[in-house]
Order: sequence, then structure tokens, then C-alpha cells
Amino acid sequence: MEWTLEQQALATIKSPMVSQGVPLQTMIDRLAQDSRLRREFAAIYDRSIDIDGVVDAIAYYERSLVTPGSRFDLWLAGNNSAMNEQALRGYKRFKQLGCVSCHQGQNVGGNLLQKHGIFRPLATPEPRILRVPSLRNVATTAPYFHDGSARTLDQAVKKMAASQLNVDLKPQEVVDLVAFLNTLTGNYAGQKVRAPE
Ligand code: HEC
Repeated sequence: MEWTLEQQALATIKSPMVSQGVPLQTMIDRLAQDSRLRREFAAIYDRSIDIDGVVDAIAYYERSLVTPGSRFDLWLAGNNSAMNEQALRGYKRFKQLGCVSCHQGQNVGGNLLQKHGIFRPLATPEPRILRVPSLRNVATTAPYFHDGSARTLDQAVKKMAASQLNVDLKPQEVVDLVAFLNTLTGNYAGQKVRAPE
């Protein structure tokens, strides 16, 4: 089933695992205790805070999180010079090695749940199953893995290949793969995505 962002946000808020049993109305009441939030909500929705508005605001924010215009996107759109030889070698490797079996689709990930540490340990063993992360903007989001245990993208790539594919990468392959991953950095609000200072 395809969910809208609104349905997904509402289901998450309602999930007892997330809300820990706090009733919806209590959450709304708590939000309404914040005078600034109350004021800003009224300015946009012209009514007092309610769940429909909260869900709409979350979905609106989520829709703003697209980061188009990465070199990889430009290359896919036909601009051959957007990716250099090294990045192209990395992309080829990424497909050949099977990274794409997990990091796939429009967001180069984000659409599967998978075990980690399949062949060799990756990071903290629990939780065993994780959402395969999107690799868009990955060069700007160190450290890596759910426990932050890989400090650099080089380390993350090497560990991924060993743990998920049982492959020991040669140093040149790591550099090529990282060059490819560097082409996945897009733009947010007209500016290139950067690592936080
Ligand atoms: C069997 C599925 C699978 C395969 C194959 C796989 N990955 Fe991953 N990848 C994951 C999962 C799951 C995580 C999240 C691990 C974590 O958070 O502990 C991840 C995390 C990563 C990260 C860190 C992202 C972040 O933001 O923390 C990078 C970089 C990465 N993978 C690159 C690769 C590369 C390059 C390959 C191929 C050599 C590859 N992956 C193959 C499932 C896979």
C-alpha cells in the first residue's frame, strides 16, 4: 500500500510504540501550551491547534526536504560531464558489488529493511534489522551507522562491503566508491548541502 506523508505521520503519532500510550488529545493540549506555537499555528491555519493541522505541517515540512541537483542527478539527466571518470568507476563498482541490492531506487536507499552484520560484524549488533539508509547527501553526514561508529566515509564503505557482501575492498575501490558517493550531494533551498559546522 502506498501511504501519503499525512497518513504516515498520523499513523506514527498514533502508534503506541511511539506515543507510549499518551492520548492524541493530550499531545495536542501539550502543544497548545506553547504560546508561540499557538500563535504561529493560528496565523497559518486560522484555528486552534488540532491534529489535522499538525499532520499537515509535518507533511509540508517533509516535502521541503528534497535535495535535487546532485552531480549524479545531473548525469542521469544526460549531462555527461557532471561525473568524472573516478566517480563513474565508483558507480559501476557500486552496481557490480551489489550495494544496489540494498541502496536502491530514487533515494539510493530508504526503501528496505535489512539485517546488518550479515557476514562480519558491522556496528553495535542491536537492533538487528535496520532501515537501509538513503545515501543522498551521505558525504555530509558523518559519522556513520546507527551507533556513529564509522568516523569517515572511507571506513563506512570498507565496513559495509565486508559486513554486508563479504568483500575486502582494495584501497582504489574504496576511493572510487567514495568519489561516487560524493556525487550524491544535492542542493537544499538553492544551496549545496553541507555538513553541519
Ligand atoms: C544487505 C544490505 C546492504 C548492502 C548489500 C549494502 N548496504 Fe550499506 N547499509 C545497509 C544498512 C542496513 C545500513 C545501516 C547500518 C547502520 O546504521 O548500522 C547501511 C549503511 C551504509 C552507509 C552509512 C550510511 C549512514 O548514513 O550511516 C554507507 C555509506 C553504505 N551503507 C554504503 C554501502 C556500500 C558502498 C555498499 C556496497 C559496498 C553497501 N552499502 C552495501 C545495508 C546494505
